[in-house]
Amino acid sequence: MIELKNIAKSFGTRQVLRDVSFSIAAGEVACLIGPSGSGKSTILRTINGLERHDAGTITVDGTLLTDAALPAIRRKVSMVFQRFNLFPHRTVIENIIEGPVQVLGEDAESARLRAMELLKRVDLADRADAYPGQLSGGQQQRIGIARALAMGPQAILFDEPTSALDPERVGEVLAVMRELTQDGMTMVVVTHEISFAREVADRALFIDEGVILEDGPAREVLTAPSAERTRLFLDRVLSPL
Ligand SMILES: Nc1ncnc2c1ncn2[C@@H]1O[C@H](COP(=O)(O)OP(=O)(O)O)[C@@H](O)[C@H]1O
Ligand SMILES: [Mg+2]
Repeated sequence: MIELKNIAKSFGTRQVLRDVSFSIAAGEVACLIGPSGSGKSTILRTINGLERHDAGTITVDGTLLTDAALPAIRRKVSMVFQRFNLFPHRTVIENIIEGPVQVLGEDAESARLRAMELLKRVDLADRADAYPGQLSGGQQQRIGIARALAMGPQAILFDEPTSALDPERVGEVLAVMRELTQDGMTMVVVTHEISFAREVADRALFIDEGVILEDGPAREVLTAPSAERTRLFLDRVLSPL
């Protein structure tokens, strides 16, 4: 479904991705872990065409990512952001139908009906006319997921979807994500929620300084990693004190 081959990316003189290659099969859930600044967000943003890669190829569902193919790629891959990125002056339902109406050209009434179904799915049907600022962080992120689903994507990329939440709000977002994995959605999840990743991910990739150091079954990588740096990272994440 998603294939990266030999991806390199620099910002100015600073190389942040070095020869990154991996592929994610349809229906697979992969978690991407690694220290801050290692290139995790850049990988997701590159897959979605929000950043342009310098070298290598990215293919999504058979479509090679080029400038011309950007609209097609963004239809196939939705993104969920750490800070939700909802429009503050639009209601919940307006946020959800924006993409389908503006990007996909769907008519507003059918987009609205679908949005209501998605709101039920994230258990927020009663907040359709609220503004994002009236919702908790956990609720806003569930709207972020509904908005991603509204595009009818083949895959969803999650960039630390629970990192900006109060601890007591993390579980409700992970619960929605868990349901998506059960529905067979293809997902790439950047997360520090290691126990969640162990439970739902098929694959785990560990990245450090722009290099994928480890790529294997989640249970192995997240419990008995082969690289020393992965072990040190997991120790720090699991017992920060
Ligand atoms: N738009 C940008 N311009 C310049 N440097 C950037 C930009 N985005 C990210 N970087 C740098 O690229 C590196 C990787 O960033 P990022 O992918 O955000 O890491 P992570 O998500 O793993 O914390 C960091 O050193 C970061 O400062
Ligand atoms: Mg990041």
